[in-house]
Amino acid sequence: MAKQNAVITGWGHYAPPRVVTNDDLAKFVDTNDAWISDRTGIKQRHFVGEGENTSSMSTRAGRAALEKARLRPQDLDLVIVATCSPDYLFPATACMVQTALGADKAGAFDIEAACTGFVSALAVARGLIVSGVHQNALVIGAETLSRLLNWQDRTTCVLFGDGAGAVVVEASNASVGVESTVLHGDGSKGELLMVRGGGTRHPATAQTVEQGMHFISMQGGEVFKLAVKSMADAAEEAIAEAGLTLADIAICIPHQANVRIIEGVAKRLRYPMERMFVNIQDYGNTSAASIPIALSEAAAAGRLRRGDKVLLVAFGGGFTWGASVLEWFGEHEPGRPKSIIDRAQRRVEDLVDRVRPI
Ligand code: ACO
Repeated sequence: MAKQNAVITGWGHYAPPRVVTNDDLAKFVDTNDAWISDRTGIKQRHFVGEGENTSSMSTRAGRAALEKARLRPQDLDLVIVATCSPDYLFPATACMVQTALGADKAGAFDIEAACTGFVSALAVARGLIVSGVHQNALVIGAETLSRLLNWQDRTTCVLFGDGAGAVVVEASNASVGVESTVLHGDGSKGELLMVRGGGTRHPATAQTVEQGMHFISMQGGEVFKLAVKSMADAAEEAIAEAGLTLADIAICIPHQANVRIIEGVAKRLRYPMERMFVNIQDYGNTSAASIPIALSEAAAAGRLRRGDKVLLVAFGGGFTWGASVLEWFGEHEPGRPKSIIDRAQRRVEDLVDRVRPI
């Protein structure tokens, strides 16, 4: 089978229209704009309204990404949703998205790796495409964290927001694409950041609800220290695996948990802060959605040019952390459905491979 690369050909994001500023929060939480801005860089976040949820936001972001890629939903092979705030424990949120989009022949599953979810999902999609198992995938990161927040816990409730981002990843013979992915985990520190109740260890009961076990709990200080080191280490590993150096990286799109974490990573790597993409001021921490939302905004702002080496890096609950380096391809030429040309070309190459004597 001909070697194929996994290339991002479409992107999009969706944030619910309801914007909640720090001052809005201060009306019902014992906090203030100065504390939140200074400690985190967050100025506002988006929260879902009634009737909105992780699958509905995923569907909107996914549709935008498909349009950009000029790929029809019925031509999708896979829908993967990275989320730690799914619609249900099961079925997978991806199944609802697959149906809502009309992606009739696509497989669908969720990935749960908290804030590292999108990088993990991208790694899976890349693996399945590069190995020739699938030709394309819609990879979504989406979260409805506002429904997991304890409004009595000001140390966490001010940090998170809702939203979804998506990319279309396609097989291509072009020499661009996702060049490396590294993933790590350490369950021994899982208790520092978790939703304790509602799973099979502590099934939902009146008591678990009374104890607030269905809310996000976090020991922020500990998470902070580990996040900076782990993200910097993963970034270096992914860059080396791609055969590059830091100087080759045109832009870094980090997980948006706290602007001080992003500054800490830049400092540790000795990478210019101006090349770190930051949009946490508008969204807060949207966990698995943060990197694809940021990627989509960076592309819309013209910050990603064809041929740019882009670094994605994340850290989150689990603990999980990882990074990916990709060469930006951008949009297909207008009126030129490249994916179809690529597919036809690959089929011919596969046929040639089959008749060629070994
Ligand atoms: N408003 C006002 N004061 C507050 C607030 C608030 N919202 N929250 C805490 N404080 C107070 C505290 O009570 C404390 O007061 P005290 O000194 O009188 O006791 C003081 O502010 C300092 O609190 P710290 O917790 O030490 O604040 P810190 O500077 O460490 O910042 C923060 C806290 C923002 C949570 C930081 O630790 C952080 O960003 N951690 C990492 C979060 C993260 O990366 N999460 C990972 C991804 S999330 C995921 O995977 C789902």
